[in-house]
Amino acid sequence: MLKLGVLASGRGSNLQSIIDAVEAGEIEAEVKVVISDNENAQALERATKHQIEAQYVGPEDYSTSNGFEQAIIDQLERYDVELVILAGFMKLLSPYFIKYYQNRIMNIHPSLLPAFKGLHAQQQALDYGVKVAGCTVHFVDQGMDTGPIILQAVVPVKEDDTEDSLATRILEEEHKVYPEAVKLYAEDKLEIEGRKVIIKR
Ligand code: GRF
Repeated sequence: MLKLGVLASGRGSNLQSIIDAVEAGEIEAEVKVVISDNENAQALERATKHQIEAQYVGPEDYSTSNGFEQAIIDQLERYDVELVILAGFMKLLSPYFIKYYQNRIMNIHPSLLPAFKGLHAQQQALDYGVKVAGCTVHFVDQGMDTGPIILQAVVPVKEDDTEDSLATRILEEEHKVYPEAVKLYAEDKLEIEGRKVIIKR
């Protein structure tokens, strides 16, 4: 069974959607460990509640970012993690980490990439005046929010939307597409060809 490791810095609602899909038997996988760079992350509580290993790795305990990353890799190795899921993980990973788990790291971003990379993607979308927004699950490469796209979902933007109301509408879709992408990976249905992810149905 595919072994998952989730990195999360905060609320962990995407983590929850994956835990729920695994527990419902929708994904043939097991969440082995949840790792956070934030001691107070709700994601860690969610893991514990589901009897999943919850590990805090504090960046301030390491003198270099390499040391911090190595500590994360050590934890992932300890649980034989095969696919790394970024779920609201707020630290950028180095090329070393990305190479270590080449094509085995997924991320979700709350925009229709390649539009609106980085922080406050929903506010960026509102400021730009787009009529649709959405979310993207992608493999992680060395750029920020640039890797091959696995799945996207679209939501309408309403004239009276605020960052919060749009984020809430997008989040609902995030909770569907992220488990779906992990399921496809677990079923070995994803093939990366350059920038493209072919879904073998
Ligand atoms: C989500 O909006 C996700 O797209 C972004 O960070 C947020 C994490 O939310 N990468 P949660 O911690 O999963 O609730």
